[in-house]
Amino acid sequence: MKHLLKLLDWSSEDIQEVLNLADQLKYEQKHGIAKNYLGGKTLGMIFEKASTRTRVSFEVGMFQLGGKALFLSSSDLQIGRGEPVQDTARVLSRYLDGIMIRTFKQEEVEALAEYGSIPIINGLTDFCHPCQVLADLMTIRERKGKLAGLKMCFIGDGNNMMNSLIVGALKSGMSISVACPEGYEPDGSVLDFTKEYGDKFAMFRTPIEAAKDADVVITDVWASMGQESEALERAKAFDGYQINDELMTAAKTDAMVLHCLPAHRGEEITAEVFEAHADEIFDEAENRLHAQKAVMVYLMK
Ligand code: CP
Ligand code: NVA
Repeated sequence: MKHLLKLLDWSSEDIQEVLNLADQLKYEQKHGIAKNYLGGKTLGMIFEKASTRTRVSFEVGMFQLGGKALFLSSSDLQIGRGEPVQDTARVLSRYLDGIMIRTFKQEEVEALAEYGSIPIINGLTDFCHPCQVLADLMTIRERKGKLAGLKMCFIGDGNNMMNSLIVGALKSGMSISVACPEGYEPDGSVLDFTKEYGDKFAMFRTPIEAAKDADVVITDVWASMGQESEALERAKAFDGYQINDELMTAAKTDAMVLHCLPAHRGEEITAEVFEAHADEIFDEAENRLHAQKAVMVYLMK
């Protein structure tokens, strides 16, 4: 049984195959020749955190593939009242053909996969956001024509996005430089993974150094969902970790800017840079739909 729990579990070939399938599904949808690849199938979508893009793109994606998606808020499920995830996994496996889950702990997603008997898709945990990064890679390849050999730069928190971008970029043949304040580094398991890739990975304290000659510059919020109480402390720590015009002068002249959204203008990105790159950022948001349809077809067909 194949899942998408984190990109660390996927091979470069898995990623490549899903990106190719995403391009194909996007083409078929745009040309009115979409097929019901998942006709009669049902996806359960468990949300323990808020969502705009993930919820809507999975639900619409499943509809476009001929299947159905069920929105399952954790506050309505018995899981919210303490029913163990191990039992939830075994019950839902009897009804559904796949589960997408957005939650806090990565262990909860791994437990669903261990105890359930249907494909599990990680729709964001504190550790990673693999669906977003597949959409990001799709968007970069669409605009630059390739991934291998390009340089990605991520400015900001060593959070779910930074963790997944490092793995996704390196497995796609890109190099990646990150800049983060002390104490906000990526996860240890991700840093261990980078050791296989030598100087294709670099970590800096100074954003401008990380952005040097980058083809793609990416950032994310300073305080993620669940970290609201740390917002003030984080605003201090991340002061200067911003994508602005000055930072962009260090990147290549034709560098793209991506942001998973929601964005906080004036914090991790200026309104000017955001608007100058809005086409790329909203293509990225659209590609969540196509990339996730590819993930569902790849895992559930
Ligand atoms: N980028 C992203 O995952 O957006 P949502 O939180 O709106 O799903
Ligand atoms: N790092 C952000 C990503 C939101 C899509 C969060 O976890 O809130």
